[in-house]
Amino acid sequence: MKKRTLGSSVFVLLVLSIVFWAGCGDSEMTIFEKADFGATKDGTAVDIYTLTNASGMEAKIMTYGATVVSLKVGDRDGKLDDVVLGLDNVGEYEEKSRYFGCIVGRYGNRIGKGKFTLDGTEYTLAVNNGENHLHGGLKGFDKAVWEAEYDGVGLKMHYVSKDMEEGYPGNLDVTVTYTLTDDNELRIDYFATTDKPTVCNLTNHSYFNLAGQGLRDNLDHELMLNADNFTPVDSDLITTGEIRPVKGTPMDFTKPTAIGLRIDDDYEQLKPGGGYDHNWVLNKDGEDMTLAASVYEPTTGRFMEVFTIEPGIQFYACNFLDGSVTGKESRVYKYRYAFCLETQHYPNSPNRPEFPSVVLRPGQEYKTSTIYKFSTK
Ligand code: BGC
Repeated sequence: MKKRTLGSSVFVLLVLSIVFWAGCGDSEMTIFEKADFGATKDGTAVDIYTLTNASGMEAKIMTYGATVVSLKVGDRDGKLDDVVLGLDNVGEYEEKSRYFGCIVGRYGNRIGKGKFTLDGTEYTLAVNNGENHLHGGLKGFDKAVWEAEYDGVGLKMHYVSKDMEEGYPGNLDVTVTYTLTDDNELRIDYFATTDKPTVCNLTNHSYFNLAGQGLRDNLDHELMLNADNFTPVDSDLITTGEIRPVKGTPMDFTKPTAIGLRIDDDYEQLKPGGGYDHNWVLNKDGEDMTLAASVYEPTTGRFMEVFTIEPGIQFYACNFLDGSVTGKESRVYKYRYAFCLETQHYPNSPNRPEFPSVVLRPGQEYKTSTIYKFSTK
């Protein structure tokens, strides 16, 4: 990995700027730009890429954590606003990120007690959330600097996670491709292979607020989750193995419902995470791309749909944001100021044989896709 001194990078703006016009005709245009985004504390250079589509929607993605740093989307009057939380520079991401916008890996969400057994061998993972393993451990994929390449259509990010990194067996070779389409979709394609049996569950951890990042809480956003069931958790937010119907509970988002309407209801599952912080079991028939969730923000008219191949989605209402992080545009990220919709296999699956398998073996391909699609109403 190339090195860059902090001093040189702070003052050099847009060292590299490359513009590609992809496709044919004005309606098939993606503008691509690459720039210096400083360096990590150990001096590894970080770049930031800008993708802009025909209608002006813009995604900025950096190589540290393969992170979506900003996402500008139009409201019903066409006014662009940044709809994801993020920080000003790499140093801040290293110090105070809450997984803002990153690719989470090798395993999204929690693995109970940081242990699992595969083919008769017990593996002990890095523990970073009480007694448990969360989002890949102490140095997950969110803290790695990825290689990046724009292939004329999408931004391909590449990372090799070494055998026994954070306790996981096998060298895992990962490629994540971000594509911004002219249909206002941010598409994420995940691909991985391994040289030893391992577990793999990748996701993107963007914190959305469709009213604009860091401006207000999420409570008036109207959420729909295409899920008749969810996976209850214990007091440590570890899935118990149960799959429970949402019907008749505050977990029922089968019809669009304001996030704030029942979030503080006296329901035992809303206690462990102080509100919504659960995996929903998506209604699916096979492995095709299906609608998993939609969110509508009434003041701006922004509407986001999430499509995925994955069997689950983590809806986290940002109950652990507490105003202690100041992000982009000097905005303070307060209690419930955003929401995450992380497409995934179910948390703690390596310890739950009854859940869909997360095991990846040599010769197999881990392949999955998620689309965040934006429009207005
Ligand atoms: C988890 C939360 C956690 C957050 C930030 C979410 O995916 O479900 O419990 O606090 O990520 O780490």
